Amino acid sequence: MSVTINENYLLLQDSYLFVEIAKRVAKFEEEYPEKEIIRMGIGDVTKPLVPAVIKAFKAAVDEMGDPETFKGYGPEQGYSFLAEAIVENDYKPLGVEIAIDEVFISDGAKCDSGNIQEIFDLNNIVAVTDPVYPVYVDTNVMAGRTQGVNDDGTYKGLVYLPATGENNFIPELPKTPVDLIYLCFPNNPTGTTLTKDELAKFVDYAKENDAIIIFDAAYESFITEKDVPHSIFEIEGAKEVAIEVKSYSKTAGFTGTRCAYTVVPKDLNVKDSKGELVEVNSLWNRRQTTKFNGVSYPVQKAAEAIYSDEGKKQIKENIDYYMENARIIKESLENIGLNVYGGVNSPYIWVKTPNNMKSWDFFDLLLNEANIVGTPGAGFGLSGEGYLRLTAFNTLENTKKAMKRIADLSF
Ligand code: MLT
Repeated sequence: MSVTINENYLLLQDSYLFVEIAKRVAKFEEEYPEKEIIRMGIGDVTKPLVPAVIKAFKAAVDEMGDPETFKGYGPEQGYSFLAEAIVENDYKPLGVEIAIDEVFISDGAKCDSGNIQEIFDLNNIVAVTDPVYPVYVDTNVMAGRTQGVNDDGTYKGLVYLPATGENNFIPELPKTPVDLIYLCFPNNPTGTTLTKDELAKFVDYAKENDAIIIFDAAYESFITEKDVPHSIFEIEGAKEVAIEVKSYSKTAGFTGTRCAYTVVPKDLNVKDSKGELVEVNSLWNRRQTTKFNGVSYPVQKAAEAIYSDEGKKQIKENIDYYMENARIIKESLENIGLNVYGGVNSPYIWVKTPNNMKSWDFFDLLLNEANIVGTPGAGFGLSGEGYLRLTAFNTLENTKKAMKRIADLSF
């Protein structure tokens, strides 16, 4: 016998989307070092942590250097001071009651949305919207839930729910039975949203079909319109069928600091093979206590400061800044006759490529001719072909400059 690898990994695309983009950009930079590139590809923020966060972060670092206040391992689920702030500030105002032990603090929505599938059976059928954040698909491929690859790069075991201009980016309910449904709204990558009624249809589907929804609400703080739910738990009965993942990355500039959380309601029970109900919350707790040692104390103190009066005000200013960029991108591209979606409740702008260009061709054109990095829609799935995503996370100055460069191109 000799060691063999997990062959599911061989079913993955060669590299993760953002790694592939980084490679192409690095090659371009090497060839044209004099060109000034404007990055609107990966959703990484440009504004630094706000002063209230920095103050709390530094104070917590000082505590770690003092024998009286030093902390070793913290609770794997996160400190209760942060879980309490989450319950009070992110859920109570929505009229949603969440208990402290339903909140699991982590180092990222990427990890949580990728890891959560581990606690479900490999025979479960997974549905994803298409285009989709690649992490949901890739982690299910790694786990072996995919039953091979089709010629077009889709996976046989997955059910894809297209969301395109044709259906106004509102995915249809699955037509064949599914067990796990990944939803992300405001959506990455399209920047579009669902109303409460539209989301309620998925919750009803899950209830009727014994399915569960993994709801990624990482972009919730960018919502500006009234009828857009900030949490899936605003929908009646969702606690029986949904898990919610949230992140401070885009909300508060924590992409490099790392802090997020997942809410697993105690009302969420899933059957085992004998038909007995099992509490999902306990299994996730078991998983986290085995595989994770919690987020560092200073980072959790920094995250707590987001909920102070000062912190709230300061991060709101940053969000408004990015949303002004989003407005500028949307309007500028519309002015030159492009079809543009998203950008109203989200920092992502989803652009239909001109003249039905392929996504990667439009990506190359923007990089070569305007020195702008976007994300090709096709990288998010088949239904992303013919689109490109731009982010509003650059500076106002660069955003304006980028829009001028695009307006100067002739398509
Ligand atoms: C994106 O650009 O889609 C995001 O930055 C990815 C992520 O949050 O991991």
